[in-house]
Amino acid sequence: MMESVHVTASRDYDVHIGSGLLDTCGAQITAVTASRRCALVTDSAVAPLYASRVEASLRHAGIEACTYVFPAGEQNKNLATYGDILAFLAEHRLTRSDFVVALGGGVTGDMAGFAAATYQRGIDYIQMPTTFLAASDSSVGGKTAVDLPAGKNLVGAFWPPRLVVCDCDTFQTLPEDTFADGVAETLKHGLIADAAFFDFLMRQPIREHLSEVVRRNVEIKAAVVAEDEYESGKRKLLNFGHTLGHAIEKCSAYAVPHGHAVAIGMVLATRAAERLGYSPRGTLETVLAGNRRYGLPMECPYAAQELYDAATGDKKRRGGKIDVVVLEEIGRAKTIPLDLDGLRVFVEAAL
Ligand code: NAD
Ligand code: GLY
Repeated sequence: MMESVHVTASRDYDVHIGSGLLDTCGAQITAVTASRRCALVTDSAVAPLYASRVEASLRHAGIEACTYVFPAGEQNKNLATYGDILAFLAEHRLTRSDFVVALGGGVTGDMAGFAAATYQRGIDYIQMPTTFLAASDSSVGGKTAVDLPAGKNLVGAFWPPRLVVCDCDTFQTLPEDTFADGVAETLKHGLIADAAFFDFLMRQPIREHLSEVVRRNVEIKAAVVAEDEYESGKRKLLNFGHTLGHAIEKCSAYAVPHGHAVAIGMVLATRAAERLGYSPRGTLETVLAGNRRYGLPMECPYAAQELYDAATGDKKRRGGKIDVVVLEEIGRAKTIPLDLDGLRVFVEAAL
């Protein structure tokens, strides 16, 4: 069982979503590339669960794969691991016509994608998301990156994948908290772009509608990316909850996972927006209700000054301005460019 969403970008690609796709990925991949050599990049938690099935499917399709496993976790999404992946590609003599398969969550996809974007000035890669977050958000849209000590995703490239193959069965082995990270980005998509989808998420248990929910997430993101792949306008709306969310991740030394930080960031941004008159009364209560329903956090463990210091290092800062995203109503968002004084007022109103 499989359905597909087409993404229109500088290079178009399909996102296949379904059940059992780990075992058929080789055939899907040979449909989009003539190359028969790849590097499978995955992390230490995903490798023992799923790498051998992907390797078998690749082999069955006549594709030779060498596998690189890095230690799982956001703290390893850095230049050192990225350098190790590049060295591995070079040692195995991958050429410009070969490709990378990123099997794992958003950390794997972002980092293997960035290695593919830069190795020999750019080779193809296939996203195979295994977290609900990666399936619903990070594997689509072509943003690739690693973190620096100064902040999240500070080095990266826009580099569209050749194909995304999402086997929703893999979510069955996710720890509950990691599944919830994907729920946060899902709620975000409803809040910024589709009130009916948000309403659906509030009435139906996500777990009983996984393929359908992933598909709607991908459709929402694909529509934004088709309009603004390089984030000069509309794509900024996908950063709802992210300016303060990234600050929370950084303040916690990445102990707070991305989705949880975004969940808190959406609450903070909406509290500030309501207090400052950007969002109508009652918006915060709706955002809180979403988090409450899915066991996502609502409280920020950091003080305004700490958040402000971390947020002013965010790459979304342009010159003296930093963009924050607020809800005009449920299902519709807008970007507000703030100067540093404005950001201070926003952060203070958020807590
Ligand atoms: P992750 O990749 O670290 O995965 C979370 C944990 O789950 C890891 O320990 C991983 O090993 C484990 N895991 C993965 N799949 C599993 C499975 N099926 N069963 C059991 N364990 C599994 O984190 P994530 O939440 O997937 O992604 C977060 C990252 O994505 C952040 O770095 C964030 O910045 C990035 N992101 C990028 C974009 C983008 O557009 N590029 C969008 C959103 C988030
Ligand atoms: N996650 C934000 C984006 O892809 O633009």
